[in-house]
Amino acid sequence: MASYDVIIIGSGPGGYVSAIRCAQLGLKTAIVEGRDTLGGTCLNVGCIPSKALLHATHMLHEAEHNFTKMGLKGKSPSVDWSQMKSYKDDVIGQNTVGVEFLMKKNKIDWIKGWASIPAAGQVKVGDEIHQTKNIVIASGSVPSSLPGVEVDEKVVVTSTGALDLLKVPKKMVVIGAGVIGLELGSVYARLGSEVTVVEYLDAVCPGMDKDVQRTFKRILEKQGLKFIMGAAVQGVDASKTKAKVRYQPKKGGDEVVIDADVVLVATGRKPYSDGLGLDALGVTLTKRGQIATDAKWATNVPGIYAIGDVIEGPMLAHKAEDEGMAVAEVIAGKHGHVNYGVIPGVVYTTPEVATVGATEDALKAEGRKVKIGKFMFMGNGRAKAVHQGDGFVKLIVDVESDRILGCAIIGPGAGDLIHEICVGMEFGASAEDIALTCHAHPTFSEAVREAALACGDGAIHS
Ligand code: NAI
Repeated sequence: MASYDVIIIGSGPGGYVSAIRCAQLGLKTAIVEGRDTLGGTCLNVGCIPSKALLHATHMLHEAEHNFTKMGLKGKSPSVDWSQMKSYKDDVIGQNTVGVEFLMKKNKIDWIKGWASIPAAGQVKVGDEIHQTKNIVIASGSVPSSLPGVEVDEKVVVTSTGALDLLKVPKKMVVIGAGVIGLELGSVYARLGSEVTVVEYLDAVCPGMDKDVQRTFKRILEKQGLKFIMGAAVQGVDASKTKAKVRYQPKKGGDEVVIDADVVLVATGRKPYSDGLGLDALGVTLTKRGQIATDAKWATNVPGIYAIGDVIEGPMLAHKAEDEGMAVAEVIAGKHGHVNYGVIPGVVYTTPEVATVGATEDALKAEGRKVKIGKFMFMGNGRAKAVHQGDGFVKLIVDVESDRILGCAIIGPGAGDLIHEICVGMEFGASAEDIALTCHAHPTFSEAVREAALACGDGAIHS
């Protein structure tokens, strides 16, 4: 049987990207995946399918709300839900087949099945034990459960079930106003569901810039989502077709019950390493059940590394990808590096929300003196031309040095615009560097430059 330099467990964005980099660096590599298709949660039941549904329903929203304004008259499209799901499945298929092609192209063996690690240097799949010098665990995460809530993926669903509902529900209750709840809540609100989001905290998207949280909630409310904030869900009582969600208002009072046809539980995800045999191996876990690693993604057991959602840090595909490339370099004897200070976060609603670096509040809490450059998309000609003048770019910079410390954007193309700031931060840019860079007109990115100008002598169009 073949013996490998590296076996990677899990073929999500962390695992498959790591496998490709290992192969590029001349390491004999295999990847273990138990699903029928490669790509992990992100490609099969996460980022990619949700983006397909967000795109389709955004088109519907445009047709319903903006077409006539632009002189595009006629019947608005009606929704063929099963066709929309086929489109989404087709997008998944194209991506998973693409990853399979990349594995073949890079001569990476796909070992099909679920892996366990009987000992360092060995990966067991089915009855076979494969020998390897190094193991990278990239086994990802699964939705975390909520006490009193039993998921059947039909009436009470996680993000996985929410991507494949049999029909568009009349009433949907979303538990949790985090990224998953708001992205999928938006999809169903645009499809005509009455969507109520029940959130424990007083703001949407925990940890995000406060200005963005407020604006985001207001915009989503305008789009028809209802929010019940400061409400702790106590349980869900479900039948085969309906459910009742029970919550306790934080400010006190009696338990409240709301009806739903479908309940989406979006209260976070937890690291997934079941069945790997980590206990017997003596791999150290953190208190939160993540695999503990050092700064080079090594676990306490020599030859075993871990990356992505199963270790500490934000559960983001691109963070896993960066770690995947970096750990490959470490294994190949190079210097793998990830700058955790510059990892963008994006919510793919309309408008998009994107953030990077520190928030104003966090910096102020540390006693840092910061100045804020803010520019509203209302002052951006391109945004107004496409009915997307809601939102802003907010740049947070150091008062003394003018160095960019963070950025938060809510508005058109935010998920792409943020990367100008990411590159700037990697290069230690000041707001003035961005302000002095010529930006094409008319583009959304002019709003980023205007926010940078606002950190100096002032924005032009505000
Ligand atoms: P989350 O951690 O972002 O949000 C969960 C929300 O549920 C929190 O606001 C929390 O206060 C609330 N909550 C928890 N228990 C509750 C209760 N009993 N009653 C009411 N509210 C309650 O988790 P989410 O949205 O499930 O996402 C999971 C992970 O997946 C996150 O790390 C996220 O970053 C990642 N993800 C990222 C995406 C992106 O980058 N676009 C897309 C989808 C997921």
